[in-house]
Amino acid sequence: MTRSLTVALGADHGGVTLKNRLAAVLIEAGHEVQDYGTDGPASVDYPDFAQAVCGAVTEKRADFGILVCGTGIGMSIAANRHAGIRCGLVHDVTTARLTRAHNDANVLALGARIIGEEVALDILGAFLSTPYEGGRHQRRLDKLNQTTESTP
Ligand code: RB5
Repeated sequence: MTRSLTVALGADHGGVTLKNRLAAVLIEAGHEVQDYGTDGPASVDYPDFAQAVCGAVTEKRADFGILVCGTGIGMSIAANRHAGIRCGLVHDVTTARLTRAHNDANVLALGARIIGEEVALDILGAFLSTPYEGGRHQRRLDKLNQTTESTP
């Protein structure tokens, strides 16, 4: 990983173990971690943690967000409902790289019950070290920001 970053982390009970591991690795690498929980195995609701992490990103208190649940699906759905959030649900290094390069993803969603810890750590490294390419991709991101209204 390159420059020191501030990374906001959140997980539900399905992702808490992996989230804690990612936090430790990030701190070891010299990054600042904002841990929005959850902190234990008790059942919780993933939208609450997505909201906390996405708020940190959209308010520019964090450079990136990372959300972990069982599949990553609930977290990614929740995150992408927040204006200004581009959350990529990623299962491998290639999609980690491409969601940064092409989508300028500012939040990473992971499924702790789907991928192993080593894969998750490789994804983390690729996600944080890959720059956005801009160029033709910016036109597409601009369209994501446009509000479209259907005409009856
Ligand atoms: C929790 O059981 C599980 O539904 C959650 O972690 C996540 O996988 C939802 O998408």
